[in-house]
Amino acid sequence: MILLDGKTLSAQIKSEIAREVKKDFLDAGKPAPHLAAVLVGEDPASQTYVTNKEKSCKEVGFTSSVYRYPANFSEKNLLEVVDFLNNDPDVDGFIVQLPLPKHISEQKIIERINPLKDVDGFHPVNVGRMMLNLPSFLPATPFGIMTMLERYKIETEGKHVVVLGRSNIVGTPISLMLSRKAKNANATVSLCHSLTPDIKKFTLDADILIVAMGKMGFVSADMVKKGAVIIDVGIHRVTAKDTKSGYRLKGDVLFDEVSKKCSAITPVPGGVGLMTIVSLLLNTLKASKKEIK
Ligand code: GUN
Repeated sequence: MILLDGKTLSAQIKSEIAREVKKDFLDAGKPAPHLAAVLVGEDPASQTYVTNKEKSCKEVGFTSSVYRYPANFSEKNLLEVVDFLNNDPDVDGFIVQLPLPKHISEQKIIERINPLKDVDGFHPVNVGRMMLNLPSFLPATPFGIMTMLERYKIETEGKHVVVLGRSNIVGTPISLMLSRKAKNANATVSLCHSLTPDIKKFTLDADILIVAMGKMGFVSADMVKKGAVIIDVGIHRVTAKDTKSGYRLKGDVLFDEVSKKCSAITPVPGGVGLMTIVSLLLNTLKASKKEIK
């Protein structure tokens, strides 16, 4: 069984990015790529994500800034922050951390972001361009999964990929990316969700199983074909008194039992999550190079 090690792979890609930043930006007298993040409210998971993004920016030599606002910040004020970042020539790309408090329309905020700075790839222009296979910012998690499959040389052509979960940010885009006529794709994809009858019928046939259901421990060993490749996108906090943070992270897959049956698997933590951050850095690099017109 191969552990698809997001920690080692993300460190490797980060060092590649750092080398490029030094050579093509700093040594060339250009300002480093600049990623900004907007955080509204005190959701602990969101705080951790944003802190990790800042840390990763520092590691590769990017400039980063975080705009923090209280949970009662108004939608109107947040739209003004988005306008400000859209117009700030020093910011190459930015993200608004989701979820947002209930009184703010996420869609309205996303649609206000300049697509050329939308390094999350959530704006309808980027989603549409991705669907048409035109240059665009790819959403970070599916982009990270694609990178992981490619770097670990996992063959996708002609394989049956089963995706569990049809969210706009993971399940739907990864289904599209893997089914398209392209190198490192060309798979036959089944997209399953909460209303799919007999999900096990699909999972047992999967050569590659991508699990993004948001249900802790959903996939057990009896649902997996022997030798399958398992990508676990789930991330859940479980209270744990014996850890420094007071919690432990778990995925959508029962790692201990499934890892005995599959040929390769991503751990949680240390798998897809780290690849997501690296993808955001790659998108920011692309934004700073003005590669997407
Ligand atoms: N919340 C969970 N995942 C993401 C992500 O990829 N981007 C943003 N902005 N918020 C998130």
